[in-house]
Amino acid sequence: MNRRPLLAGNWKMHTTVIDACQLAAEIGKCSVGVTDRDVLLAPPYTVLSEVAHVLHGSNVLLASQNVCWEEQGAFTGEISPTMVTSVGGRAAIIGHSERRQIFHEDAEIINRRVQGAVKFGLIAIFCVGETLEEREGDRTFEVLEEQVKAGLAGVAPESMKKVVVAYEPVWAIGTGKTATKEQAQEVHAFIRKLLAEMFEKDIADSVRILYGGSVKPDNVDELMAQPDIDGALVGGAALDAESFCRIINFS
Ligand code: PGA
Repeated sequence: MNRRPLLAGNWKMHTTVIDACQLAAEIGKCSVGVTDRDVLLAPPYTVLSEVAHVLHGSNVLLASQNVCWEEQGAFTGEISPTMVTSVGGRAAIIGHSERRQIFHEDAEIINRRVQGAVKFGLIAIFCVGETLEEREGDRTFEVLEEQVKAGLAGVAPESMKKVVVAYEPVWAIGTGKTATKEQAQEVHAFIRKLLAEMFEKDIADSVRILYGGSVKPDNVDELMAQPDIDGALVGGAALDAESFCRIINFS
């Protein structure tokens, strides 16, 4: 199956306007001529519009770091799918472990967000991942199965074209500890098998599954060499243009 690699940078709550524009410009520059893979940036909402201007004409895709399921209304603090598309955004990260853990977003909220994103034509970058306690308690696969089933409940098979899954073990996020390529591959293969059961094999084979959690220039190549790893969701290293450019150009 030929899945197009996707290298995504999640800037989290970093960058004001000036540094965002500068970083986006550098990443845009190193993405010129990169045609065999997708590059995506998820800056904070406050700079989406500026970053869109900087990246205008480049092949870098723009995403929001979360998204609501409604188009508008009384949802203080939220951003709607049409707000994202109105500034040129094509995707939204949903269910990131920081949303789940710090802001207590539950499975139902995350599922509504995924459904809302695809309904309005956004690519949902749907994140799942186990905590250290869950891994050490031998519950990794059970937890992931629960998260994947709940997050994608009610998503129509044809909408799976708009879904990217990101496996991000919580213990590897921002810790400098990466899952080994074997650990990551094992989980990715498990998720793909689960998707085949939930939808069908062709769909499971076409869904991109990204790995996230301390992806760096020095581990991206071996991770990307795994058969079920189709890309990376990068936090810390996406804030440094040189590192992220190296990640984009993984071999
Ligand atoms: P990290 O973050 O690369 O800094 O570990 C990854 C993420 O949270 O998406």
